[in-house]
Amino acid sequence: MPPLSSNKKLLLIGASRGLGFALAEEYLKRGWDVVATERGASTSKLHKLAQVSDGRLEIETVDIVHPDQVRALHARLAARKFDMLFVNAGVKNDDRETIADVSTDEFVRVMITNALSPMRVIEVLQDVVRADGTIGIMSSGQGSVANNESGHYEVYRGSKAALNMFMRSFAARHADDSRTLLLMAPGWVQTDMGGPQARLRIEESIPNLANTMDAQAGRAGLQYLDYLGRRIAW
Ligand SMILES: NC(=O)c1ccc[n+]([C@@H]2O[C@H](COP(=O)([O-])OP(=O)(O)OC[C@H]3O[C@@H](n4cnc5c(N)ncnc54)[C@H](OP(=O)(O)O)[C@@H]3O)[C@@H](O)[C@H]2O)c1
Repeated sequence: MPPLSSNKKLLLIGASRGLGFALAEEYLKRGWDVVATERGASTSKLHKLAQVSDGRLEIETVDIVHPDQVRALHARLAARKFDMLFVNAGVKNDDRETIADVSTDEFVRVMITNALSPMRVIEVLQDVVRADGTIGIMSSGQGSVANNESGHYEVYRGSKAALNMFMRSFAARHADDSRTLLLMAPGWVQTDMGGPQARLRIEESIPNLANTMDAQAGRAGLQYLDYLGRRIAW
């Protein structure tokens, strides 16, 4: 880890494992100070990373489906400013479940976690992001309505498509905002969610995804991009 700080600050929501943990590691390598969140119980991975981060990784706690926890996080961070707020947290349901057979409870769980809650996080926390900063959310290529010709993963797709729509509405409501807004697709990556058969290793996705986000910094408006910086059809 480089001893020099870049003076940039990232607030990263959902970093206990998988792509979120890798993003925390990646931005520390880039010299950023990182506040990374986990849910409830401490995960040794993130805490071990904090121990070797020279004080540049702080761990916070939030479960994004609980608005009171999101508001409490905001209260704890209200006096601070970040160059980037990135919401990574997300879930999937059983891949085999279609809209025909998913239970209402499971549908609601995925929609609330993947579509409503990330938007609530940015609604509540947006004022800790600098005027020239970036607000990003981890979407998915599966969220593209235009590219859905093969079906599968119906509930998950629907949740990320809804997320994309809500982010477009957020962008429309903040048309004069100078900040960079990003919906990111990391590719199909080997994590607990992606599974071991996924096409990409974390090291093939996350450094590229970070390069893509950093390259967009300072550009106002919303973009839906993959990890290599390619535009995705809405
Ligand atoms: N892997 C892929 O191929 C792929 C492809 C496209 C998009 N994505 C998206 O990328 C993001 C990360 O995926 P991943 O593959 O790293 O998944 P993962 O290994 O299952 O990790 C999911 C992360 O989200 C956190 N999380 C889930 N629900 C949360 C909640 N209510 N509040 C706070 N944190 C919560 C989890 O925390 P806990 O440890 O507490 O559960 C964990 O840190 C997700 O948004 C996913 O949809 C992944």
